[in-house]
Amino acid sequence: MITIDEGGCASACLFAERYTWGVEKTFYIETFGCQMNAHDSEKVIGTLEHEGYMRVRDEADAGLILYNTCSIRDKAEQKVFHRLNEYKRLQGEGKRFAVLGCVAQQEGEKIFEKAPYVSIVSGSASYRRLPEMLARLEAGERRITGLDDRETEETFDTEFTARTNPHRGYITIVEGCDKFCAYCVVPYTRGRERSRASDSVMAEARRMVDAGYTEIQLLGQNVNSYCDPTGKLTFAELLAAVGGVGGIRRVRFMTSHPRDFTREIVAAIDAVPTLCDHVHLPVQSGSTRVLAAMNREYTREWYLERIAWIKAARREISMTSDIIVGFPGETEAELEETATLLEEVGYDAVFCFKYSPRPNTPAIAMADSIAEEEKSRRLQMLMERQREIQRKNYARHLGQAMEVMVEGHNAARGQVVGRSSQNKTVNFTVGQLILPAVGSYRMVRITETFPNSLVGEAVDG
Ligand code: 5AD
Ligand code: SF4
Repeated sequence: MITIDEGGCASACLFAERYTWGVEKTFYIETFGCQMNAHDSEKVIGTLEHEGYMRVRDEADAGLILYNTCSIRDKAEQKVFHRLNEYKRLQGEGKRFAVLGCVAQQEGEKIFEKAPYVSIVSGSASYRRLPEMLARLEAGERRITGLDDRETEETFDTEFTARTNPHRGYITIVEGCDKFCAYCVVPYTRGRERSRASDSVMAEARRMVDAGYTEIQLLGQNVNSYCDPTGKLTFAELLAAVGGVGGIRRVRFMTSHPRDFTREIVAAIDAVPTLCDHVHLPVQSGSTRVLAAMNREYTREWYLERIAWIKAARREISMTSDIIVGFPGETEAELEETATLLEEVGYDAVFCFKYSPRPNTPAIAMADSIAEEEKSRRLQMLMERQREIQRKNYARHLGQAMEVMVEGHNAARGQVVGRSSQNKTVNFTVGQLILPAVGSYRMVRITETFPNSLVGEAVDG
């Protein structure tokens, strides 16, 4: 998979997702950004439902319109203000508006000035206080903020998560970030890094399996920086423990930081078959000088050493990454170092972004020295090189049989659409009229390969 800068948080950038609801205390929520935001919205939805609110299909029918925002890059932030402006037309109808997430935290009370019809402005570190904020809203308050909790040690654990997919579900195990990369807003918007107690994670994983989930994705801005507040489990032990819950078929984890990547994680993947053979390990740049300027706290060699551990695993582990092009001062030679690193590692997917100066970050003080067109050219160049890498990587799967989780059906092509353990898209045909159910697993033999997907046929009954 090769992804270009679309705005929204990296990795599997989710396009705006709309949640809708119905009657009296009704609400509508729209989400932008990364999986963390998508999952936060699932928790917000569950909390609202528990407080007696109901989802409606259309924002026009909602008493409360919530907007969960992303500010990772400027484009994502621009979308927020554009959309808020569109909401303006609904303000006369007695509706209330809430802005949540990273833009809310970043802009704070300025949002009330820009959009006076907004009543709640809350960053993610304050979601635990949502019931109290809702009570104040119902009591008639019109300027409610949740902006002061970034130093909190607490995580937002709730039993009321309203998961949208009945087969694959997220569990956030680490919130916030303490790494302070020079370009990144996350430490300022999501607050201090804090981990959820392993007992609480395990209890949720068991509840999910009882409810029929077979795939669990553990989430964290730096998921592998996990530090159990009860001191019981390391991250690798937690991975193994979740993978060992009876009934689990797949466990993923996202996103890993190279600084905290250990050999034990690789050993856990080797030892526990339910742990998916995929690691998302963003490198950001292949140049040690740029990495230092970015405050990534590792060198090219340090990073490649971790890649060597992954490559030495008994199972073939797929690797993916995030890259930023056009960081202030990046030279042509440094860009070439990134290109050669892509080739050396042989990633299966790279999410490539043009550097975007962000408020409050140290990099904002560095001149944004590379023109937009030049950033686009660099991005294009890397993507072309990466496409060639993926063409070869994917071709290796020709003739292999692999287990695929069914995600949907492409009626026009008569194909079933699914995902392999390595997180690769697999489109396949089945020799029967009744198509396999979404959420089921099939063995598929690969008959054709592309740089972003595989094609095959089901080989089991
Ligand atoms: N500009 C461009 N890309 C960014 N990312 C984070 N901050 C910025 C920024 N200011 C990218 C990084 C990170 C991903 C989530 O988003 O690649 O890994
Ligand atoms: Fe941002 Fe760096 Fe933290 Fe990732 S590790 S969220 S890029 S500050």
